[in-house]
Amino acid sequence: MDRIELRGGGSVRGECVPPPDKSISHRAVIFSSLAEGRSSVRNFLRAEDTLSTVSAFRSLGVEIEEQGGGLLIRGKGIYGLREPDGVIDCRNSGTTMRLLSGVLSGNAFFSVLSGDDSLRRRPMQRVVGPLRQMGAEIRGRDNDRYPPLAIRGGTLRAMRYALPVASAQVKSAVLLAGLYAEGETSVSEPHQSRDHTERMLPSFGAVVGVQARTVTVKGGAELHGRDTVVPGDFSSAAFFLVAALLADGSEIEIRNTGINPTRTGLLGVLKRMGAEITVGNLREVSGEPVADISCRGGNPLKAVTVGGDEIPLLIDEFPILCVAATQAEGVTSVKGAEELRVKESDRIKAMAAELRKFGAEIEEFPDGMNIKGKAALRGCEVLSYGDHRIAMALSVAALLAEGTTVIHDASCVDISFPGFYEELRRLTR
Ligand code: S3P
Repeated sequence: MDRIELRGGGSVRGECVPPPDKSISHRAVIFSSLAEGRSSVRNFLRAEDTLSTVSAFRSLGVEIEEQGGGLLIRGKGIYGLREPDGVIDCRNSGTTMRLLSGVLSGNAFFSVLSGDDSLRRRPMQRVVGPLRQMGAEIRGRDNDRYPPLAIRGGTLRAMRYALPVASAQVKSAVLLAGLYAEGETSVSEPHQSRDHTERMLPSFGAVVGVQARTVTVKGGAELHGRDTVVPGDFSSAAFFLVAALLADGSEIEIRNTGINPTRTGLLGVLKRMGAEITVGNLREVSGEPVADISCRGGNPLKAVTVGGDEIPLLIDEFPILCVAATQAEGVTSVKGAEELRVKESDRIKAMAAELRKFGAEIEEFPDGMNIKGKAALRGCEVLSYGDHRIAMALSVAALLAEGTTVIHDASCVDISFPGFYEELRRLTR
């Protein structure tokens, strides 16, 4: 699908269940592949990104079968992977490439990781640096800055690493390499990033300690297969949540949504803006908090300032937060978010450029933007930059706009949310 046409107006009503969590699905496949024996992953996200991780582990010799909507994985143990006979194509997935670089650093064979045009422009020095310090032979294009990465793994040394920038992908890469090192490897981060790795790894038998913002893993542990159930993805739910809050007459219930506090920074920001959101039916699924989220639309929202510790907790929700800000009274300011420039696209530049086409007033800064609301949005022609979250955020802007909007390069939603447009249409009245 090259382009999609969306008509503005209407409300968002009904019940929905978001697709399974992307970050947790990746990790379930990786840890199950490294475990001895059988594991299952129920409610696995079948989307382009997570399927890249599945094909990567198949090429490393792991048997992964589809089973009743989930996966059955016959893991090989941490030393049971085999040298792949071709380049491992991570396609658009930064999580696949960065987490895999940690695993491959501990394996005594040669491997090459590459990806699509977007992934080949994303910074990799942040994993190359620490993994080389641990003893891996790892190189990247342009002085180790970018993919492809070539790795010859081997004996690793444990280390203490202080992340210069909060990143769950880099933290996880070092912790996974730490599984292969003798002794304890620890990673500290300047702000808390998502903690799915440290929550899930112990359930496979790894020895993991968490103290404030430092995570420690003990090398040499054997991992054992287990069953994982993946909760719904808050980052995908966020598009419907914001659509319902902004479109008059809306009322929505989003079921089975992960509400891990390292992921739900957007909820706090929306509440500060004046949104009424109910989080109920709290429960735990495979060590992750899960709930049903409901809200009604039409409450006036006011502008807020977002920055500091809050940024990593809503890093993937920035595009949809920008859309919410266009509808809040006053100037919403996002600061300290320079990491957004090195995501699947430069998300600051992309959202500023495309929301201006709708008529929003935006000032762009190197580390964020000011968005002046409340803006009357007008239908227009916009670009997704091949970035799934930009395409979905612009779809919500289109719903709020007067007239028709055309989104080019719209099929990239398949990276995290296949069926997104159908679901939006189903819920729009
Ligand atoms: C992810 C971590 C975040 C996030 C990405 C998924 C993960 O990236 O933006 O979508 O699954 O660990 P960074 O680690 O680069 O912040």
